[in-house]
Amino acid sequence: MDKKVEDETLEASLAPAIKTYLQNGPKFLIDGELVTAKAGGMIDVRNPATAQVVTKVPEARSEDIDAAVKSARKAFDEGPWSRMTAAERGKLVYKLGEIIERHAEEFAQLESLDNGKPISEARAADIPVSYNTFYYMAGWATKIAGSTPSPSVPIDVHSYTLREPVGVVGQIIPWNFPLMMAAWKLAPALTAGCTVVLKAAEDTPLSALRLAELIVEEADFPPGVINIVTGYGEGAGAPLAEHPLVDKVAFTGSTEVGKLIVKAATGNLKRVTLELGGKAPTIVFPDADLDRAIPGVTLGSFFAQGQVCVAATRIYAHKSVFDKLMDGVSEAAANIKVGPGLDPTSQMGPLVSADQLQRVSGYVDAGREEGANVLVGGEGLQDSDGYFLKPTILTNANSDMRVVREEIFGPVVVAQAFGDAELDQLAAEANNTEYGLAASVWTQNASVAHKMAKRIKAGTIWLNCHHVFDPSLPFGGYKQSGWGRENGPDALENYLETKAVTMAL
Ligand code: NAI
Ligand code: MG
Repeated sequence: MDKKVEDETLEASLAPAIKTYLQNGPKFLIDGELVTAKAGGMIDVRNPATAQVVTKVPEARSEDIDAAVKSARKAFDEGPWSRMTAAERGKLVYKLGEIIERHAEEFAQLESLDNGKPISEARAADIPVSYNTFYYMAGWATKIAGSTPSPSVPIDVHSYTLREPVGVVGQIIPWNFPLMMAAWKLAPALTAGCTVVLKAAEDTPLSALRLAELIVEEADFPPGVINIVTGYGEGAGAPLAEHPLVDKVAFTGSTEVGKLIVKAATGNLKRVTLELGGKAPTIVFPDADLDRAIPGVTLGSFFAQGQVCVAATRIYAHKSVFDKLMDGVSEAAANIKVGPGLDPTSQMGPLVSADQLQRVSGYVDAGREEGANVLVGGEGLQDSDGYFLKPTILTNANSDMRVVREEIFGPVVVAQAFGDAELDQLAAEANNTEYGLAASVWTQNASVAHKMAKRIKAGTIWLNCHHVFDPSLPFGGYKQSGWGRENGPDALENYLETKAVTMAL
C-alpha cells in the first residue's frame, strides 16, 4: 500500500471516542472544569510516525498554573477531600484505575498516536501498569498509620505520631510513558490525601488530558483535588516548581531540568522528589543462559524505542560469550519490525519528536567520530517522514566516549567485552557513571548474581531479566538519577509528613 494511504488508514481506524476527543480539542482540568488556556495559546500535537499534526492542545502559562494551584490549595485547605475517610479516598483512587481499564483500548491508541510506541506495547505494558498502579495504591489509603514511640524522658508522657498529607503537590512528567507517568504521580499523592496539579509533557499531552475528561465524566472527585494541564517546561513547568502555594514538587525527566527544579524549589523550601536520567549496564557472565540473555538484552535495549531511563544501554559481556551474545542480539535487533505504532504488527515505532531524533542521531554520529563501529542500525526508515531510527548497536567503544557516558535516550546501545576480573572490578566499571537508576546481571550462579546486586549502586537490579516493573516495587535512583522512590510503600512516603505528638500525663 502507498505509505500515505497506509498512514491515513491507520488513523481512520482509531476508536470513535478518540476521534471525537481529538476533533473537539483536549482541555485542561482546573477546579473541576474542563477549560482552555487563559492566554489562548495552543500547542500542535504530532503523530511521530507521520510528522503530521493530529490536534492542538491548550498551552498553560503562569496564569493557568496559578489558577490550578489556587484551586488545589483551596481543595486541600477547605475542601471535603481532607475530611473524607481513608476508605472513601481509597475508593476514589481505585475508581481512576477502573476508568483507565474500562477505556484501555482508547488509551492504548492515544499513547501510540501521541508517543509513537507500538500499540501492542501500550496494550501489554503502559495501560495495565497504569491501572494497576491505582489499584495497588488505593489499598494503602486505609493502611497509612503513625506509631507510638516510647520516649525515655524523665517525665511521664504519652507520645504518638500522625502521618499527614504534605499538601498541594506539583507534578511534572515526561513523554516516554505518558499515562503511566501520570499514574505513578497521581496514585500515591491522592492516596496520601494531597491535592495535585499535574503538568503533562508538551510532546505527549493526549492521554493525561483524556484522563482529565474522563475524571469529569465518570469520577466524583471534589473540584480542585486533581488539576491536569500541559504546557512547555519554561512556560508552565517552571512556574509550577516555583509556586509559593505548592508544598511539594515531584518531577520525572532529564537530570539537567531536575537540577533546575531543585533551584526553583528553594523559594519556599518545598519538598522535592526527582526521577532522572540513567545509563543502565547489563552485564553478561560467561555462564549466562544465552537463550534467555539474548532476547532479554534485546528487549532491555530497545523496548519503547530505547526511550527509557532504565534502558540497557551499556552491554558488558565476558569475552568468552561476547561474540555469541552480540551475534544473537544484533540479529534480533535487525529483525525488529520498525513501523508506525498504530500498525499492530510494528515492534518498534518512531522516536517521540524531530528534536529527539536529532539528539539521538547526534550520538550515533559522535560514536562514529570517536571510533565506535556501527554493528547494526544507525539509519532511519526509507520513504517515511516519521522520526524513525533503526535499533542501533555500537561496538569498539571505551569508557571515555560520550556514547558510553551520557544518556542517549533512544534505540542506541554500546557493547563492550570484559576479561577475567574480580566482581569488585566489574562492579566498579558498572558504577563508573554519574547515574544509578538500574542494572541487570545475567548469570546462572546465584551467588554471583546476589553479590553483584549488592555491589552495583542503582535503585533497581534485575537478575536474569530487564524491564520488570510493578506498582509494588520501589523505583528510583542513586546518585544523579534522583531523589526518592516511586511505587511501593516508599512512594507514599514522598507525600506524607510525620508529626510527633506528646502529652505530659
Ligand atoms: P525534560 O527534562 O526537558 O522534560 C521533562 C518534563 O519537564 C516535561 O514535562 C517538560 O515540559 C518539563 N520541563 C522542562 N524544562 C522545565 C523547567 N525549566 N522547569 C520545569 N519543568 C520543565 O526532557 P526533554 O527535553 O523532553 O528530553 C531531553 C532529554 O532528557 C532526553 O533526551 C533524555 O535524555 C532525558 N529524559 C529523561 C527522562 C527520564 O525518564 N529519565 C524522561 C524524558 C527525558
Ligand atoms: Mg527539555
